[in-house]
Amino acid sequence: MNTEKKFLIVANWKMNQSRVSEAQKTASEIAKKAKKYKNTSVVICPSHIHIPIVSKALGKSSVILGAQSVFAQGELSPTGEVSIAQIADFDVRYCIVGHSDQRLLGQTNKQIAETVFKLIKKGITPILCIGEEKRDKEGTYLKNLTTQIQESLFGIPSSMVSKIIFAYEPLWAIGSSAKRNANAGEVEEVAILIKRALSDMYTMKKLPSNTILYGGSVSHAQDVNETMKTGQINGFLVGRASLSAKTFLPLVEELDKNI
Ligand code: PGA
Repeated sequence: MNTEKKFLIVANWKMNQSRVSEAQKTASEIAKKAKKYKNTSVVICPSHIHIPIVSKALGKSSVILGAQSVFAQGELSPTGEVSIAQIADFDVRYCIVGHSDQRLLGQTNKQIAETVFKLIKKGITPILCIGEEKRDKEGTYLKNLTTQIQESLFGIPSSMVSKIIFAYEPLWAIGSSAKRNANAGEVEEVAILIKRALSDMYTMKKLPSNTILYGGSVSHAQDVNETMKTGQINGFLVGRASLSAKTFLPLVEELDKNI
């Protein structure tokens, strides 16, 4: 299992793959091809209920198992939630935190920060999502993004911060109602903002080299190619286009060529 490759692409299956057999088939198809990607780590985040079957389907392939969310507030163990210990038991290596879907359900920056902290302690890499609802000409969204970053990192010591992967996912670009994905300039602007916010918070001498992903309607190889030209990001978080090997693998292939 190689997590040290240059690029990273994460499949976020959300509540899709309603049949176990679909999840199993898609995971196996992706796993079969993955070894040819020398520069790109591929992560699949199925819904919690499919973690065991996908773990089995991935077997000893280079594809890494991730989770879409986890509950980690205080000592609580509420009905219907899944714990860090439970996902760790299936060798889940990455976990999405603060996806806008979860924030819309009420997840707060404070809860996100606590989850990030506990995941790192357990050796699971958090993929921390940030994103604005809309862009305004006055640039208020930039200020809001900075606040989101600062609050989502509350209590995270400098020794942990390099372990966090950031995903820029503007809400207006996510899902089937989105009119377009973010363009290269928009992604570049926020990738730099993330790095600057980190260097300000942790008084770093130079900008950090955290892995930064873009997510939101990444559908074609051309989207990957255009966005990578900025040189500011390291990969993608993909929703709809990750649901079948046929639509996902061309994205991985394009990313892998970006060396
Ligand atoms: P999308 O979803 O690629 O379907 O827009 C991305 C995400 O929500 O992570």
